[in-house]
Amino acid sequence: MPLMTWTKEQFGTDVPICDEQHQRIFAMVNQLYETAAQGDRAAIGQLLDELIDYVVMHFQTEERLMQEKNYSGYAAHKDEHDKLIATCAELQRKFHAGEAEVTQDTARFVCDWLLHHVPKVDRPYGPALTS
Ligand SMILES: [Fe+2]
Repeated sequence: MPLMTWTKEQFGTDVPICDEQHQRIFAMVNQLYETAAQGDRAAIGQLLDELIDYVVMHFQTEERLMQEKNYSGYAAHKDEHDKLIATCAELQRKFHAGEAEVTQDTARFVCDWLLHHVPKVDRPYGPALTS
């Protein structure tokens, strides 16, 4: 059973590009969760790198759209993005240095972050970004 399932009711933002990117991120987290259980370090490292690259690109998409609309929640929103990227970059560095492992708990951490961020922080930008 996948760790994360995207539904419009719970995660839809009304911004098609953001919804598409969120669905791709959920799929990547699910893949990382499965692969982490198998313990293939090279495969895990590749998925971790791909996930982080994609999330960075996605955050840039959201931030550009928010800036274009002078969205009032931009600064607080970007702050949440920056904190996650800092945490992930540190884990990525340690993983590739052989100082840390990526486990199913890592995928659960990203999952929990998304379960808070997408409904509580992303969804509220829908009306502003589609007006
Ligand atoms: Fe966001």
